[in-house]
Amino acid sequence: MNFQIKSFLEYQETYQKSVTNPEAFWAEMAENFVWRKKWDEVLNWNFKDPKIEWFSGAKLNITENCIDRHLADKGDQPAIIWEANDPQEHHRILTYKQLHQKVNLFANVLKNNGVKKGDRICIYMPMVPELAIAVLACARIGAIHSVVFGGFSAQSIADRIKDAQCEMVITADGGFRGAKDIPLKNVIDDALVQCPSVKTVIVLTRTRTPISMIKGRDKWWEDEIKKVETLGLIDCEPEIMDAEDKLFILYTSGSTGKPKGVVHTCAGYMVYAAYTFQNVFQYQPKDIYFCTADIGWITGHSYIIYGPLAQGATTLMFEGVPTYPDAGRFWDIVDKFKVNILYTAPTAIRSLMQSGLDYVKDKDLSSLKVLGSVGEPINEEAWNWYNENIGKGNCPIVDTWWQTETGGIMISPIAGVTKTKPCYATLPLPGIQIELVDEKGQVIEGNDVSGNLCIKFPWPGMIRTTYGDHERCLQTYFATYENKYFTGDGCLRDEDGYYRITGRVDDVINVSGHRIGTAEVENAINMFTDVVESAVVGYPHEIKGQGIYAYVILNDHTEDEELTRKDIAMTVSRIIGAIARPDKIQFVKGLPKTRSGKIMRRILRKIAEGDVSNLGDTSTLLDPSVVEQIKNEKL
Ligand code: PRX
Repeated sequence: MNFQIKSFLEYQETYQKSVTNPEAFWAEMAENFVWRKKWDEVLNWNFKDPKIEWFSGAKLNITENCIDRHLADKGDQPAIIWEANDPQEHHRILTYKQLHQKVNLFANVLKNNGVKKGDRICIYMPMVPELAIAVLACARIGAIHSVVFGGFSAQSIADRIKDAQCEMVITADGGFRGAKDIPLKNVIDDALVQCPSVKTVIVLTRTRTPISMIKGRDKWWEDEIKKVETLGLIDCEPEIMDAEDKLFILYTSGSTGKPKGVVHTCAGYMVYAAYTFQNVFQYQPKDIYFCTADIGWITGHSYIIYGPLAQGATTLMFEGVPTYPDAGRFWDIVDKFKVNILYTAPTAIRSLMQSGLDYVKDKDLSSLKVLGSVGEPINEEAWNWYNENIGKGNCPIVDTWWQTETGGIMISPIAGVTKTKPCYATLPLPGIQIELVDEKGQVIEGNDVSGNLCIKFPWPGMIRTTYGDHERCLQTYFATYENKYFTGDGCLRDEDGYYRITGRVDDVINVSGHRIGTAEVENAINMFTDVVESAVVGYPHEIKGQGIYAYVILNDHTEDEELTRKDIAMTVSRIIGAIARPDKIQFVKGLPKTRSGKIMRRILRKIAEGDVSNLGDTSTLLDPSVVEQIKNEKL
């Protein structure tokens, strides 16, 4: 690919060019794609509305770029390699030709069921190739996919379906994750009680878990495929999309109670995901690339599906978890498929590190060339372990900082090009103009400083709106600091000008690389009958990065605290999903509040962190004595 940066000097020159004339730079990068019609204008923007348009006037279909254009010279090359949860089950390989065939057929299934351009489709599936096929089939016909992670509860799914007014759900009877069977279809049935907009549910057979199929609504994936085959509907012409037509919605948590539907559009997202994939990982033809994320998160969208496929890469998809059947599973997969590039999360590294080196020692990891990390700050110990035991000191580690809203990687080393430094995401990629600002919005210049991380100029992969509520997009990202996109992260710039992300500065907790809003967890806890009020904060957790610490006021004294804790945790699982279960629940008589009724989370955070030496001035609290009780009874 002709946009791969090969040396640090080239990076510096490219970066300069990209900020001096961003439009010329991105137009040049966009030449590497297939367009049905080229753009009239490269960029049209203001951060006040916000209004962001890249490549307006252009026409394309992302699946033509991800599949069709590779058929001539890479038709027989694996596009997707799939490894099952159970190592005994045979893996599957889909070549570009086969992927093309399957995406076309399923796109015809969608059409045959009345799906049209612009319709919203919720996808709630296990990590099987059909999930990627479903996503691409939506994109092929211009339907907007909203993938919901398989760990979310019926209530969370219902909220997401209602917000996007989805017409269809694509799911499976169940999914395998480690030793567990996840009853996906049953969860969907519970969710759909509240969702009259959904007319059709397509169900893939995976676990053969007994399920109910509702007449007129539920249809088997396999039967629907047969139907279109019988009708001779084999090929499906791609829908020609405008550059700024919506490609997908992906819900993410913020500091308020309700998750937001982050919207990405066709052209800019495609160019950005593909450009960053190619550069950060330095993918070479025939490399086997393995990203361990779930497609339910943005990492899976951009770096399992769209980025790699747009570049004609071979992307490996894994159904299971890193510790099943044992903590050597990732290394077995690397060994089995001779993986060259591995992209995973600090949480996984920390948990495998704890299991010890016995699981690594007999595995042949010599195929590895590049290692990646994403989703949360990586601590030095985990970085070193990854470097020494997995990369054997020979593989650059790309610590990639980005967000659901950014569409693709923003700050990261370019493998083999940028000198790495443990715990540092290092430098911004071309096109990314960073600013650190203080509380008042003053830009902090120079090195060896820290502040709130903002971006001052648009990039093609950035969020366009929050679905159904553009004002919320403005308020969340563009209103805190005038004329800047605010990330919600704190960041430092060291003496070399390298960036290190220090974590969220808002009320968002990052648990195992998953964003969870404290308000969301509090709302769920407060739904439990005996709860009067609660306050949730993050605290350092050895494996998960951050754990969830909940302070809870009960109606009455409880006889059995342990049982009540379990009931509360179960309530949170039901309302949000198991990922949001509090790790610690402390019962308290009161919460530290100001006279105006605001909870002083700073104090609660310090206590949860175990740092009670300096709680600051507590004399302005309504009842300073509650702090003593909370301190004394800390878990
Ligand atoms: O706090 C940052 C953290 O994850 C947040 C974004 O979460 P999400 O939208 O779920 O996307 C995760 C995958 C891109 C950020 O605001 N984060 C992400 N990557 C890093 C990180 N923190 C530190 N270092 C990273 N490399």
